[in-house]
Amino acid sequence: MSTLKAVRGTRDLLPPETELWNRVEATARRVFTRYNFGEIRTPIFEDTQLFARGVGEETDIVSKEMYTWEDGERFNEQKMVAEWVARYRADDPTHTQARRAHVEGLSPLLRRLNAIGVQLEVNWGVALPNQQLPGSAPEFVCFRPNISAGAISALLEAQVIAKSDSASHLRQSHVRLRLVVPATAAENRWIERRGVTIEFFEGNFFDSAQSLTLRPENTAGVVRSYIEHKLGETGLLQKLYYIGPQFRRERPQKGRYRQFWQIGAEVIGPPSSGSESPLRDAEVLEMLSTFLDELGITGWTLEINSVGSATDRPRYLAALREALAPVKHLMSEDNQRRAETNPLRVLDSKDPQDQEIIEKLPKIADYLDADSKGHFAAVLAALDACGVPYHVNPRLVRGLDYYTRTAFEFIHGGLGAQNALLGGGRYDGLSEAIGGPKAPGIGFAIGLDRLILTLQAQQEQQSTLADAFAHAYIAPLGEAQNPAALSLARELRRSGLRIELGDGSFRLKKSFEIANKLARKIVLLGEDELRSGMLTVKDFATGDQTKIPREQLAAALKNI
Ligand code: HAM
Repeated sequence: MSTLKAVRGTRDLLPPETELWNRVEATARRVFTRYNFGEIRTPIFEDTQLFARGVGEETDIVSKEMYTWEDGERFNEQKMVAEWVARYRADDPTHTQARRAHVEGLSPLLRRLNAIGVQLEVNWGVALPNQQLPGSAPEFVCFRPNISAGAISALLEAQVIAKSDSASHLRQSHVRLRLVVPATAAENRWIERRGVTIEFFEGNFFDSAQSLTLRPENTAGVVRSYIEHKLGETGLLQKLYYIGPQFRRERPQKGRYRQFWQIGAEVIGPPSSGSESPLRDAEVLEMLSTFLDELGITGWTLEINSVGSATDRPRYLAALREALAPVKHLMSEDNQRRAETNPLRVLDSKDPQDQEIIEKLPKIADYLDADSKGHFAAVLAALDACGVPYHVNPRLVRGLDYYTRTAFEFIHGGLGAQNALLGGGRYDGLSEAIGGPKAPGIGFAIGLDRLILTLQAQQEQQSTLADAFAHAYIAPLGEAQNPAALSLARELRRSGLRIELGDGSFRLKKSFEIANKLARKIVLLGEDELRSGMLTVKDFATGDQTKIPREQLAAALKNI
């Protein structure tokens, strides 16, 4: 059999590398908490429409990179049972009554019947004043999406159970059998009916198929959640962060995966909460620079631009289209298409043959109205005030349609072609685009995979490897010492130390070999040590071997 591997574009993260991931995630949580952000976790898949409307149909992400599937049509049994019962009650309330017997598990018989797939026991009869149904004609009813031999057998089995169960109130009765299927179900001549009445029941009992998509990004999900939980009604600014996998069917290469991780944050709220203020943009950018500094990432550049408001954009797009019309046939195939569908994306193209044309295209800065210009200037002034360096890149546009005004990326030279460490911006109209109230917002998402690559390239892995070492390896000298070794390990672990526990069946040489690979020190625990309370400790870095009293062991091991 061929061996199975992780799917192209996905990968396993293993220790010790996961230590670094955890450290980065912990740093994000710590830093973001200082800015009063709280964590949000949204589902990994959403209704496809969310991304189509939120991120934009014409974006690369939505038009060609999403993992989308139809979640198939499903038979809704409950709906059929409910409508059937209602129908027979409503039709002729004094004459023909459908009774759902002992629904809440009152009758042990019905519970047994439910287990084999027969949903109802019904008594057909005439309701007399002050008297419940006289129970003249009991019937078992089974509801299915189509006529099946399985359903017929279940009903026949129900009949046998009703006769044989000593607790059954129907032991003496002749119980009739009925299979109810949707009117659209096909007649099936090959199935023997064996005395079962087949009823074709009018109505639609299928939940329609829904198109679902693995999230390619998390902003749309956060805004959907903001709307669904009416977070805007608090009147407060919502500051939410998330850490999780995202999925895009892109061509895998270094720094680009089909399942990748993002750490992101969003600041969103009704305009009265101050969500449109340029101060929010600057605060988010300042937080990012603090986060990268605390991680020790050096050499990043913040590229920033304003992509204009919803009113600036059409004017700029018209100008772009006009400028592209006479030259677009000279451009790459992708850009010829974009020039029609999404001209803003032409600016973002990395295609070398097109750069000369792109250089000469109109700049969005010349199409901003006074409000947008003022907003952008205020963001930059606040960045200047707190000393966050940036580079205004008038060509910066982003690959998602929801952006308005501030857009930014932090790029890093060490990453090669996929040089965007993170990206983000303002999305003042996103909530409305997906059916919500006005809720301007700003946020970012950091490509965690790329952040880790950058950290590793900065030789950080040395300290990561050091982090991966246990403080000590406890080697019981003989199996009799195993329980005492576990007890010592428990004591040390409870004092916060990372301890690897050996096994008394190992020979000393083997214990030393394993300990040397996993831990900084080895602690020997034999009969002598137990009796005297003096433990032998060897430090692999220095080669020193010392005897340490048990009470001082934890403190000694903490000193690396
Ligand atoms: P984005 O620019 O599409 O923005 O992605 C943000 C970051 O995710 C990128 O800068 C990159 O580091 C990383 N990334 C994207 N695709 C991949 C991939 N295939 N493999 C590895 N890393 C990748 C967004 O997703 C927006 N939701 C950001 C945002 C939040 N804007 C406002 N709020």
